[in-house]
Amino acid sequence: MAWIVKNSATMKIDRREQPWLDDALKAELEANVLPSYPTKQAATLPVLHAVQHKHNWIPLQAIEEVADFLGLSHAQVMDTATFYEDFWLKPKGKYLIMVCQSITCELMGQVGLLERIKAKLGIDVGQTTQDGRFTLMAAECLGSCDTAPVALVNEKLYESITATNFERILDDLE
Ligand code: FES
Repeated sequence: MAWIVKNSATMKIDRREQPWLDDALKAELEANVLPSYPTKQAATLPVLHAVQHKHNWIPLQAIEEVADFLGLSHAQVMDTATFYEDFWLKPKGKYLIMVCQSITCELMGQVGLLERIKAKLGIDVGQTTQDGRFTLMAAECLGSCDTAPVALVNEKLYESITATNFERILDDLE
């Protein structure tokens, strides 16, 4: 867990006219989510999840819109969004590749595998391809050590992978 430090005093927020948290999503949240929580603040996580689910990431403008919707300060929602690694505050590729880097996968060839994937996609860990298709991340143990090395692509787990068969898997996604 690492705190993300942002220069909030001078940070530029890209804005668009159309809200990210639009009236339809607000109505859905008011009908189906807020009633389950004792306060609006308590619903911060599910509201952020709903925005991310709809847009695949959470732009800074959306952080402000969520704060206004819940009656919180922008900083309170930013604190929450940056505390959890599950929230994406920059655009995420259509396919999120998470390669396990824990000990068993490392012993079974994860390092070479990761290098091949980086070379194939032309990006480093933590980056997204220019066409927005792939984001590459390293993950801690994915709970499938007996089939190491493993990687997730979005929700799907790929087991006992080799660089060659994983490259084929990525080609098939394209
Ligand atoms: S170490 Fe990779 S799945 Fe456990």
